[in-house]
Amino acid sequence: MKTKLVPSCSSSFSSSSSKNSIARTRTTTRTILAALACAFMVVSHAAENPSTAMHTFAIGTNDFLLDGQRLQIRCGEIHAARVPMEYWRHRLQMAKGMGLNMVCAYLFWNLHEPKPGEYVWTGQADDAEFCRIAQEEGLWVILRPGPYSCAEWEMGGTPWWLLKNDDIQLRTRDPHYINAVKSYLKEVGRVLGPLQITHGGPIIMAQVENEYGFFGKDAGYMDEIRKALMDAGFDVPLFECNPPDMMKNGLLPDLFQAGNFGSDVEKNFAKVRKIQPTGPLICSEFYPGWFDTWGQPHHTGKPENYLPNLKLMLDMGASFSIYMAHGGTTFGLWSGCDRPFKPDTSSYDYDAPISEAGWATPKFFQTRELFAKYLLPGEKLPEPPAQNPVISFASVELKEVAPIFENLPAAVKDETPRNMEAYDQGYGCILYRTKVPAGAAATIEAAAIHDFGFVFLDGKRVGILDRRSAKAQITLPERAQESQLDILVEPMGRVNFGPEMADRKGLIAPVKLGGENLKGWEVFNLPLDDKMLAGLKFRAGTPGTVPASSKDQLAGTVPGAPAFWRGTFTLAKAGDTFLDLHNWGKGDLWVNGHCLGRYWNIGPTQTAYAPGCWLHAGENEIVILDTIGSENHTIAGLEKPVLDELHPEKDFAKSHRPVVKLNLDSATPVHTGTFAPGADTQEIKFAAPATGKFFCLESLNAQDGKPYAAVAELDLLDASGNAISHNGWTIAYVDSEERAGEDGSAENAIDGQTANFWHTEWKNASPDHPHRLILDLGQSQTISGFRYVPRQGEGGGGRIKDYRIYVGDALVQK
Ligand code: GLA
Repeated sequence: MKTKLVPSCSSSFSSSSSKNSIARTRTTTRTILAALACAFMVVSHAAENPSTAMHTFAIGTNDFLLDGQRLQIRCGEIHAARVPMEYWRHRLQMAKGMGLNMVCAYLFWNLHEPKPGEYVWTGQADDAEFCRIAQEEGLWVILRPGPYSCAEWEMGGTPWWLLKNDDIQLRTRDPHYINAVKSYLKEVGRVLGPLQITHGGPIIMAQVENEYGFFGKDAGYMDEIRKALMDAGFDVPLFECNPPDMMKNGLLPDLFQAGNFGSDVEKNFAKVRKIQPTGPLICSEFYPGWFDTWGQPHHTGKPENYLPNLKLMLDMGASFSIYMAHGGTTFGLWSGCDRPFKPDTSSYDYDAPISEAGWATPKFFQTRELFAKYLLPGEKLPEPPAQNPVISFASVELKEVAPIFENLPAAVKDETPRNMEAYDQGYGCILYRTKVPAGAAATIEAAAIHDFGFVFLDGKRVGILDRRSAKAQITLPERAQESQLDILVEPMGRVNFGPEMADRKGLIAPVKLGGENLKGWEVFNLPLDDKMLAGLKFRAGTPGTVPASSKDQLAGTVPGAPAFWRGTFTLAKAGDTFLDLHNWGKGDLWVNGHCLGRYWNIGPTQTAYAPGCWLHAGENEIVILDTIGSENHTIAGLEKPVLDELHPEKDFAKSHRPVVKLNLDSATPVHTGTFAPGADTQEIKFAAPATGKFFCLESLNAQDGKPYAAVAELDLLDASGNAISHNGWTIAYVDSEERAGEDGSAENAIDGQTANFWHTEWKNASPDHPHRLILDLGQSQTISGFRYVPRQGEGGGGRIKDYRIYVGDALVQK
């Protein structure tokens, strides 16, 4: 039993350590008091829970040091918010049973500060309790408090209310942003500061920002965030994480650097070494799988990549954190959206070793077996806990309906429609209504739609505005008299990555009919919160299947209209189950008042995880909002999830890619070149800047001589050489993409993630070069060059060799 009364934390690295020491002096009194309190606790608990004793943690010249001894960190990420709190202990025991000695946890600012200055740290948001349970289970904690977290979480964890300020510059030193950050971090320090190792708690390190090098270059900004953490009482070593290629951006040379990558361990650590010549090596995000986005194939990790790379890191003496060890579920409306617009599914299974429902997968046992060979002196590997009971129930019909159009709140009158945030609404749906005069069929067009707009004329649905194709226009049919126009906007999560994060929702004005501004609107806020749900007026619904004609189905008040459906299912006993959503269209669902997340019939997720702790023996209530209309209104509970079933034929966008005409043959390339082999990022400058709405990369052959082309990421550079925002970008054309054997969809080349990639088809066909990927930039842009990230990973098939670039306004005709 170790009981050190003067805890210390140091880093031979950082002058963040020298700065930390200032913070340490300030907190000495508190620290000693906490240490004394802990020393008493230790007497009774330390034997069973060694981590409640006072310990020291430091970043040494070669190793992480716990009580002066080498600590090889075998960490895994779990987000408290993505696991029902009733199951926190179970999942942490699973983590321990897999052989982890530490967990890594993001905090999500928007969960903890729903309104400016109003903080929530209870229930699902009780991250302090999560840390305490981790400590009781013998796990250390790496805390990643934000303010920005990414994590496929709504707006990367930052609060929507920041967007009420039209000019706010997120993740910069803009005082509006940074002052809000400081208040939040101060609060984090108040709640979680006492749980640092320096105060007898399990938190050994805390992260500054998240992958900032992907976003900006302002080291002063990073320094401000670091200072805010220290001012908030963080006196453990601080660190930042980035993919190694991005570390140089905004770098604080005296802040410990951790690398994020999912492959090429040796190459990536060598890159870290160039930036940070000494100190322990840690891969702070090592990916066992990947997250899913709606309409794209389900992701699983490559077994040949996962275990050998973990073993390699263990043999090298390096540390790591598996992102995710247990992904869980993004309950509620918290799921985010990848760049430029790829909304994330609510299942965050991630093909992690511990499945969404907390089950031990084959990967779990392989990991446990591997880690068993690398335990540190004194470490024991406990048996994992039993799996929670699973139940199923037969299909029940939801017989009550509350159509949205019958459940509107009082309207807000507005001359011109504004985004949702301007009406002080953060989440949910929003309905915009106005009158349109009698007249011939005409185009109705908004500046943008964030994200789906279901357009109704006198209660009949006449079209859908769809952000996936940047489509904010439809043809309104002829009207014999003045008619009522309704646009029901269903936003998905806000973009959580890149400069597109200031993702204001709703109908973006001006809205024009036949070129004329439409004015005189009524706006109905539908926040989908507890209050709104409690106030819904349900009535008997019309049971049955789809009405014969799709017109009827779209009509305002018959089944198929946007509506909430309510019913019950009866259980003999509670248990985990997976609600089968195959019969439903698109929307959100609640069980016994818990929002389980979003669903969409296009897949790949077709079920919703309903944790047994939120169910009970007897009658359970289920409410489903369907914004596009369901085929029938039944639901069953399954014993297994369905995460891998795409239904592109159910997509209202009809086809995956619109058919277009190419005008490339007559176009002159603005640049012709040869990429260097290997996985390094390459920046190419054109001889002279080129202007156009379309950007085409044409591959002529591959480095390995094979017929495939692949691209991990493309960025276009403006006249000053800075990457331009991907906002409004879409894929105008791609000649080939693999969607059966893996997710090789073209959007992967512009989503900001270097771990996934566009890949031409290989499973059912292998078309040869030239391959063409054409981006629609939404508007004409001046481009001075581009940044190309080749496909990462050993082998890296599809890396392009010779290529041509075209830029122009007329490369594609729609
Ligand atoms: C990055 C971020 C994480 C997460 C992963 C992808 O590395 O740091 O928050 O978004 O990508 O899952």
